[in-house]
Amino acid sequence: MSDKSSEKDQALMEKIVSLCKRRGFIFQSAEIYGGANGCWDYGPLGAELKRNLKDYWWRKNVQEREDILGLDGSILTLESVLEASGHLGGFSDPMCDCLLTKARLRADEIDPQSGTSYHYTGASHEESGWSVERPYSVLLSENQDENKARKTARLYYSQFLSDKQISPKKLELAGESTEEVTDSTSYNPENGSLLTAAREFNLMFKTKMGASADENDPKGTAYLRPETAQTIFVQFKNVVDSNRVKLPFGIAQIGKSFRNEINPRNYTFRSREFEQMEIEYFCREEDGMRLTDEWLETRLSFYEEIGIPREHLHVLDVPDGERAHYSKRTYDIEYEFPFGIQELEGVAYRTDYDLKKHREHSGKPIEFFDDEAKEKLLPHVVEPSAGCDRTILALICEAYDEETITDDKGKEETRIVMRFSPRMAPIKVAVLPLLKNKPELVVKAREVQSMLTPFMNVFYDETAAIGRRYRRQDEVGTPFCVTIDFETLGENGDEDKDTVTIRERDSMEQRRIPISELREYLLDAIV
Ligand code: GAP
Repeated sequence: MSDKSSEKDQALMEKIVSLCKRRGFIFQSAEIYGGANGCWDYGPLGAELKRNLKDYWWRKNVQEREDILGLDGSILTLESVLEASGHLGGFSDPMCDCLLTKARLRADEIDPQSGTSYHYTGASHEESGWSVERPYSVLLSENQDENKARKTARLYYSQFLSDKQISPKKLELAGESTEEVTDSTSYNPENGSLLTAAREFNLMFKTKMGASADENDPKGTAYLRPETAQTIFVQFKNVVDSNRVKLPFGIAQIGKSFRNEINPRNYTFRSREFEQMEIEYFCREEDGMRLTDEWLETRLSFYEEIGIPREHLHVLDVPDGERAHYSKRTYDIEYEFPFGIQELEGVAYRTDYDLKKHREHSGKPIEFFDDEAKEKLLPHVVEPSAGCDRTILALICEAYDEETITDDKGKEETRIVMRFSPRMAPIKVAVLPLLKNKPELVVKAREVQSMLTPFMNVFYDETAAIGRRYRRQDEVGTPFCVTIDFETLGENGDEDKDTVTIRERDSMEQRRIPISELREYLLDAIV
């Protein structure tokens, strides 16, 4: 990506973040207390948008399918579950710290750098007799002045001064030597400072369950689940025993997951608390690969149905060696976010790994009896695992648009319009009486509002000029505005009595429609 296009994309992202706050889609969690890093709160419109996404996902994947059942499992998860699943031992990211700023970085996300490394053995302050012996290095790229290395090193050593009145500039550096390095990931790309060696950091949030003071009580420790999937595997037998199912069949769940991400970033993209929409689709081993490919197509269609076009999605067939050890095939579905092409969902063939592990660790027989084949078996599983918050972010990025329009007086203005698909739009229709000081218009508008509210999210607005009210709705992506005017009241003759003007957000076209047809018209568009 060129510098120009990355600047443009950064500016676009800033506009999106600003609109989300201004219009109540997304707020930083605990903002008035300085903000909780990696946590986000959805405002009134964000909550509607999220609900629409989750409801549609649930409808398509559970209610409209005979082969998938729903589950709503607990977030608090026993240590034994996560020990069996491998999360306790292996759910970690490599982490390192900047020796200068103490910033924590994901070691596997540091871009390799080349240049001259300036090494030091320590520093001293002659006047006070203070000294420290400790190796430290700074990496400079080709055109940087060597004094930058010395300045950074002095700042580093000044941390160990007990007398904070001594200026870092007064420190004498010891043992300077240089070395050419290529493709090193040992230095902070932000400031060239040496990093600590990478160490593994478990991403799970741990907590205490109940009042047990015994550190070794296996039921006294719980974790906030790092994925919804494990609840499904652990409840597999109960779901099978309480329902009549035959292979292949799935169990679906929407719910919160938690990961103590080292570097939450890109707005809501990498959060510490987020929602997943996961399906574990159980099948016979011989069907695993085929069903993985079929699920990929089903999931790609889903994104198109909610307004994310295929041409903005990418499929990464994760190569051998980069997949989780239990996966025989994984497709990442990625979206072109303004900050880069990044993962929205993983479709993974997890084999029988998880059920096998839970059978082994729990000691319980969790096999499935296949009635047709008359055999007991441990099913394999295909897992389409989508991030709800990431999909919301993709919907918002996809919807954001600015266009220049000319008003009736020939004046140009910028129209900000969120082009959500009507199916996802937080507000489906705005009902607007032309004037608020004409009681008949207000009464009629309230009637239209009451007629529609049992079926969809309706917004009533009687303040400001009608053009301004349209713009306000464009900015939050309301696909339709309905205006109650004098024709509605029959003041211009009987022909248009009990009709309203319906204005379409994207084309801005307006036409008249009888109130009696309004509900069906809108329902057809938003279903
Ligand atoms: N059960 C499989 C699983 O959890 P994953 O690839 O780690 O796989 C699945 O997560 C999806 O959950 C991702 O594709 C992403 O959409 C979402 N997700 C994962 N970590 C996230 C985070 N820190 N913030 C927001 N969404 C996240």
